[in-house]
Amino acid sequence: AQVERDTEVSASFVVVANRLPVDRVVTDDGSVAWRTSPGGLVTALEPVMKKNEGAWVGWHGAPDETLDPFEDGGITIVPVPLSTNEVAEYYEGFSNATLWPLYHDVVAPPAFHREWWDAYVRVNRRFAERAAQVSDTGATVWVQDYQLQLVPQMLRELRPDLRIGFFLHIPFPPVELFQQLPWRRQISEGLLGADLIGFQLPGAAQNFLRLVRQRLSVQVRRDRVTLPDGHVARAKAYPISIDSRGFHDLARTPEVTARSHEIRRDLGSPKVMFLGVDRLDYTKGIKQRLRAFGELVAEGRLDPDEVVFVQVATPSRERVEEYRHLRDEIDMLVGRINGEAGRIGRSPLVYLHASFPREEMAAMYSAADVMVVTPLRDGMNLVAKEFVACRDGDNGALVLSEFAGAAYELKQAYKINPYDINDIKSTLELAANDSEANKARRMRTLRKQVFDNDISHWADSFLSDLDAEVSPE
Ligand code: ADP
Ligand code: F6P
Repeated sequence: AQVERDTEVSASFVVVANRLPVDRVVTDDGSVAWRTSPGGLVTALEPVMKKNEGAWVGWHGAPDETLDPFEDGGITIVPVPLSTNEVAEYYEGFSNATLWPLYHDVVAPPAFHREWWDAYVRVNRRFAERAAQVSDTGATVWVQDYQLQLVPQMLRELRPDLRIGFFLHIPFPPVELFQQLPWRRQISEGLLGADLIGFQLPGAAQNFLRLVRQRLSVQVRRDRVTLPDGHVARAKAYPISIDSRGFHDLARTPEVTARSHEIRRDLGSPKVMFLGVDRLDYTKGIKQRLRAFGELVAEGRLDPDEVVFVQVATPSRERVEEYRHLRDEIDMLVGRINGEAGRIGRSPLVYLHASFPREEMAAMYSAADVMVVTPLRDGMNLVAKEFVACRDGDNGALVLSEFAGAAYELKQAYKINPYDINDIKSTLELAANDSEANKARRMRTLRKQVFDNDISHWADSFLSDLDAEVSPE
């Protein structure tokens, strides 16, 4: 296959992701602004990109617009256009109403539509072609996440000279669930086009290896898969992290410290502040945690004069039906809890349906005593790590779902099963009332884990393994 190289952009390190680090938005007065994109992928990759001075190929978040490449903070941004129809079928449809629920243990039913699949193939080809155009000879290309699982194979066909990595930011399901997918063979083969396929957890890499061993004519030896044409793809776990030092230092600036004190004052200086921070997503277990908190207050096990729960939820995928439905359910639940347990001038639950700058997030993490992370299934969950990084000492408590990837590393958290409301209740109570010594013992280990295993450790491990892979082409 022949690829016409871009005359303007030629990078030796290229990230390909559905999202660019910035989204183009039109504000209420009609002017155009750029805003940091939501979610863990951007949080994790931004510092890696700034270090590597590469190109980032991705969608700028708005439909029906073709934009030229531009520079942003040392990164060459290469926008990929999506039409309104493609946003509906490739992004909202196949990515977020088929793959997302399927890969998260089917906590919502996945929808299978053939026209969504066709759009997914078409858009993956567009990303592969754009990456092929802007990659220097022998460049390293790092493809990200479930929206682009066909890109590794497509790109390898276009540019066999490239070193191709792939990282899946979400869980990879057990074979028994994955095989529901009508296009399971194409997706597996798409991924195998990479030289190295990274997963959040060893269990996810095992699920993938088991799948290809059972279903494809390939040879699997330990973590190496050999294709009939001799290409070798390796599948291995690299738990992702955050810029731990960066978050810690941000939380320590005078502005953020002052803001954190102000938040507590504005909340009525509670004895205990609980905090939840998520994209508004049905995988995050937001309903379960709010219900648990509401019951604790109603039963008098937590005193609404002493405690407050702040839940921050970023609007997300608002045109997908399950997400709209979830928003309504949460609005109702918050109303009910505050209606029953609130007093004049004091609501036990503060719910903010908005996105905030990183400084404000750091202030909230610093202000909180108990961070509540309760996903029903989550690839990693960076929020848990951000809270730990923002501590100013061995204080505070992290309540963490066993079903978050982060639980694999953050073993000293107060673990819960999010499907067990009584377990959430008793653990919230314990985390709020536990002795300072117990909390300090847990937090010391958590902080060490988060500082020792930061985002550059993650990127270095992946990229040095990718660098060491040489496929006989
Ligand atoms: P996911 O990738 O599924 O969204 P993660 O927990 O891994 O989940 O990452 C979420 C990222 O989004 C974190 O970096 C977090 O700080 C950020 N975030 C979540 N909620 C908000 C919010 N309301 N405002 C700003 N950033 C947020
Ligand atoms: O981190 C998982 C992830 O799905 C990313 O791939 C994605 O960019 C992020 O969450 C936020 O979701 P979206 O891009 O759909 O707003």
